[in-house]
Amino acid sequence: MLPPSIREISDFSGKRVLLRLDLNVPLTAHGEVADDFRIRKALPTLNLLRERGALVRAVSHIDGAGGSLRAVADYMVRHLGVAVTFLPEIAHQQAALLLERQSPREIVLFENIRREEGEERNDPAFAERLAALGDLYVNDAFSASHRSHASIVGIPQLLPSYAGLQFIDEVDQLSQAFDPPRPFIFIIGGIKFDTKLPLVRKFLEIADTVFVGGALANDIFRARGLSVGYSVVSEGGLDLSDITSHPKLLTPCDVRVCPADDRREEVARFARLEDVRTDETIMDAGPATLEALRERLSSAVFIVWNGPLGDYEDGFGEGTKALAEMVARAAGRSVVGGGDTVAAIGGLKLEEQFTFVSTGGGAMLDFLANGTLPGIEALRRDLPDSGE
Ligand code: 3PG
Repeated sequence: MLPPSIREISDFSGKRVLLRLDLNVPLTAHGEVADDFRIRKALPTLNLLRERGALVRAVSHIDGAGGSLRAVADYMVRHLGVAVTFLPEIAHQQAALLLERQSPREIVLFENIRREEGEERNDPAFAERLAALGDLYVNDAFSASHRSHASIVGIPQLLPSYAGLQFIDEVDQLSQAFDPPRPFIFIIGGIKFDTKLPLVRKFLEIADTVFVGGALANDIFRARGLSVGYSVVSEGGLDLSDITSHPKLLTPCDVRVCPADDRREEVARFARLEDVRTDETIMDAGPATLEALRERLSSAVFIVWNGPLGDYEDGFGEGTKALAEMVARAAGRSVVGGGDTVAAIGGLKLEEQFTFVSTGGGAMLDFLANGTLPGIEALRRDLPDSGE
């Protein structure tokens, strides 16, 4: 069941809305917004709240050394025409005065909430301070809702709480994976098989095909007794005996490899799996693998994809880009997500070609694995009376 949506409230006049967004966007070396995907996804909720008369006070986190939301506030003002007042601290001297004078057209955005000591440990006293900023709480940060932080799970215990438009869309679109139209292909890549294994096991039951790529596949190759050289594998080894010969499992049949001590693209070569040498590292999927994927995608009615096929950050993005193009062109419904995956899509200007692009990375995976998130459960609790 979906949590209560802000659409249920037609008039927010005079209501102070504490809005949790996920404005955790990549910044350039000069501290400027490098990709505004998550900012744009916040706009429908921001606009709806402003149009309905709310006084919006927004909080978000941003990663990275000293991560500051000042650049995001500047970007919203300069490139998106949103009137944003940035407040460097919740307890800033000027904050009370500015908040008192806030106009409904103006959005107040506070600095990176993870700089506040009580946020990550969901400190009740900090949650109370935050809650004092609003009459209502709206969570439009689906992508951070796998975190049991004060601004995600603490506030809904204190204020009448609602889900934002993006949040509702995410739950709605991703939930289709639990009762999918068929044939359904589930594609997962990236790293950290130990955390993704439950998801693979679950979708081997639900989907018609599960393609495991990226470094995740290295664990399967190793479990099948193949050499993976110096490739990234899970530490300690995993018991994959129940999945390695699963009839629904598809894995790369060829790969792009480099000498382990020289990982430049110029020295890379394609190899069949059985030809990977012990002094090599697997960096990306190969052409025969992409061809096998193309075939499955051409008949798929529903596609879910999260995670790159290659070492995207080290310049091996070709497999991921080729897959992005194939999924974009596929006739079936496509739901995609994950930081590197979305970056690849953004770079190719393909966003509009997918049925749905999730803002979630870890949150998308956790939702698919568990069918819910701490932030969803928090919104579903019995709500205090909103006075509506
Ligand atoms: C993300 O980038 O996936 C979200 O913003 C959550 O960030 P986190 O993994 O730092 O909690």
